[in-house]
Amino acid sequence: MAITAQLVIEAFEKRFNATPDVFRAPGRVNLIGEHTDYNLGFVCPIAIDFACYTASAPNRDGVLRVFSLNLDEGREWPIDRLASLVPAKDWTDYVIGVIRQIPMARGRDILIYSTVPVGSGLSSSAALEVSTALAAGWDLEHAPRLDLVKLCRRAENEFVGVPCGIMDQYISVFGQDGSAVKIDCRSLDHEAVALPAGLAIVAVNSLVKHELSQGAYRDRVAECGRAAATLGVESLRDASLDALSRITDPIILQRARHVVTEDLRVEQFVAACRSGDVGAMGRLFVESHRSLQHDYEVSCEELDFLVDHAIRIEGVHGARMTGGGFGGCTVNLLQASAVDLFESSIRDAYQLRYGIDPAFYRVKATAGASKLS
Ligand code: GLA
Repeated sequence: MAITAQLVIEAFEKRFNATPDVFRAPGRVNLIGEHTDYNLGFVCPIAIDFACYTASAPNRDGVLRVFSLNLDEGREWPIDRLASLVPAKDWTDYVIGVIRQIPMARGRDILIYSTVPVGSGLSSSAALEVSTALAAGWDLEHAPRLDLVKLCRRAENEFVGVPCGIMDQYISVFGQDGSAVKIDCRSLDHEAVALPAGLAIVAVNSLVKHELSQGAYRDRVAECGRAAATLGVESLRDASLDALSRITDPIILQRARHVVTEDLRVEQFVAACRSGDVGAMGRLFVESHRSLQHDYEVSCEELDFLVDHAIRIEGVHGARMTGGGFGGCTVNLLQASAVDLFESSIRDAYQLRYGIDPAFYRVKATAGASKLS
């Protein structure tokens, strides 16, 4: 068994004096299709080998006890009060937001340990939500997996209060070993897209998170709603490039243009991936970034710097910001043989410019949520 799972079991046994079941739910890197999910368009993420682990066992005390190993901090609540809890505005909201939707006949002890870096756009919250649902007794083998995805998204929308789309929870559940997953955020179908051999994917953490991220996310959701209303469509998924000329507000036009062109880029990226055309995949990465930078305006100086520098390095096919934006990570597609040089070049340049050592994550596409023991 993986070292992390072993560590989680030992920590659980020590704290709660019982033998737990252990679950894992991964974070993600979105390869392309940014800010398209809540417009019911296409996304193409991978689940990554950074994950949230939960260990869980029933207790006889009628309470839910939750302990975060990362924070070295625990809470407990009587189970008959779970349904009436209000958000505490901290990490427990992700846990309670999920658990209050899952009927619990007995008390339960849960220990949580995550290797997904928090606040870096790699979906640490979805990993926490999904692994919490499993720890709370969600039956991954028999209950429909899509219901689990929806339940976790609901926790985030309604209890945490973030109006996110469905991508992060979806990929955490449906991730595939060795493949990206193209998700249709309207039909909620997906298809696996095998990644070409010899391709490395490295996420670079800018280690900045600008304050406006949450408010700006809401603004973008609202602006896309206005664009769809202007065009008389249910969502921007149904808008064509030609139709956009009917939008007179220049900002709304920019937002809509990003979403419509980004959906097209996802289709092109999937085709390029299937034919092993890494050059085209890289070009689409850069086009996506420019669109997020100039039309959607969710990038920031540090992310632009990381992208601009990366694409000048030998062996790099393309780079772009990934996730919600305003900080967090870039995702870089490169030749496997170029990774060491890439990292040292980026580290030197970023350090010189911002005085910060960026973090590097060499990621692999992994399977979605599972029970480990
Ligand atoms: C965040 C949200 C996702 C998605 C991305 C942007 O990660 O949680 O639903 O909207 O931003 O693509």
